[in-house]
Amino acid sequence: MREPVRVAITGAAGQIGYSLLFRLASGEVFGADTPVELNLVELPAAAKVAEGTAMELEDCAFKTLKKITIHDTPEKGFEGVNWALLVGSKPRGPGMERNDLIRDNGHIFVGQGKALARAASNVNVVVVGNPCNTNALIAQHNCRDIAPTRFTAMTMLDENRAKYQLAKKAGVDVREVQNLAIWGNHSSTMVPDFENATIGGRRVTDVITDRAWLEGEFFTTVQKRGAAIIAARGKSSAASAAGACIDQIKNLLRKTPAGEWFSMAVASDGNAYDVPAGLIFSFPVRSLGDGKGYEIVKDVKLSDFAKKKIGETTKELLEEREVVKNMLVK
Ligand code: NAD
Ligand code: LMR
Repeated sequence: MREPVRVAITGAAGQIGYSLLFRLASGEVFGADTPVELNLVELPAAAKVAEGTAMELEDCAFKTLKKITIHDTPEKGFEGVNWALLVGSKPRGPGMERNDLIRDNGHIFVGQGKALARAASNVNVVVVGNPCNTNALIAQHNCRDIAPTRFTAMTMLDENRAKYQLAKKAGVDVREVQNLAIWGNHSSTMVPDFENATIGGRRVTDVITDRAWLEGEFFTTVQKRGAAIIAARGKSSAASAAGACIDQIKNLLRKTPAGEWFSMAVASDGNAYDVPAGLIFSFPVRSLGDGKGYEIVKDVKLSDFAKKKIGETTKELLEEREVVKNMLVK
């Protein structure tokens, strides 16, 4: 057996937590030889529910699950963790945009950023709680002791959604769809880049020649999928969000094969695609396979259509940054 991997999950008693924890414990993510220690981080009011979830985790008798602890403060919950999955925050309701949550949720990430600085050093931070790009920006600013590159926000769910829609339209298996980058914000301005994606090794635009569908229905379906799920279920996506979080962690753990990429929101270095430095922006990225390093793919060719859309999502992220400027440490 290897050294244990310590994972903190905030919002552990919530919907996403309920799906995520069992998959993290099962050995599917870190491997059958890697023991996993789970730190369930919750508000005091939800600690009892977290206890129930912990009982169920025990009852699964996962061979890789070595320890479960429950914490009602992030300082304790983040102590020595290798992964901090920041899920805990309020979800939006019907008719809301995700950035309507900034004022409710932003402060959570001030405290959690500071707690990470005190409690952890070699840690990957994945922000799921919405609005996830700007929440990741807040956490990263309040945690200057940890490299900014270790802070990411999740757009893998959007990539998965886009891949499925393209596969369905083309009548192929979803595994045929590759290199589908999501650019920008996890919001209704996100840009699902069909122009650089492939289906069975061919350009999407050669396989699906209905350009009006690609620019219209496909785009808006992906951009508004979260809202459609809320309208249908009365609650936001949960199992698919947990699945995407698992996919992001797996992508970071393995070296991305040459010529491929996946979507992840990371700090822009200001050197590509006219995205200002520091914004937490979803780019096509490649993992170096050491569990923490990755690079933004810098040579993707963008059409005027894509550049215009990327400009819109950049503008929205700059506006969100302005709203939270008092929560950012200079
Ligand atoms: P939920 O309401 O079911 O659970 C949230 C949990 O977080 C609750 O148990 C609550 O007690 C806990 N919590 C709140 N503040 C906390 C804090 N400061 N510390 C620790 N725990 C705290 O919500 P959910 O459906 O699990 O969704 C969680 C978040 O994830 C929402 O903001 C939602 O919008 C977001 N989300 C993001 C994506 C994405 O693709 N990035 C996808 C789905 C949902
Ligand atoms: C999603 O994309 O499903 C989540 O971000 C939840 C939401 O508010 O849309």
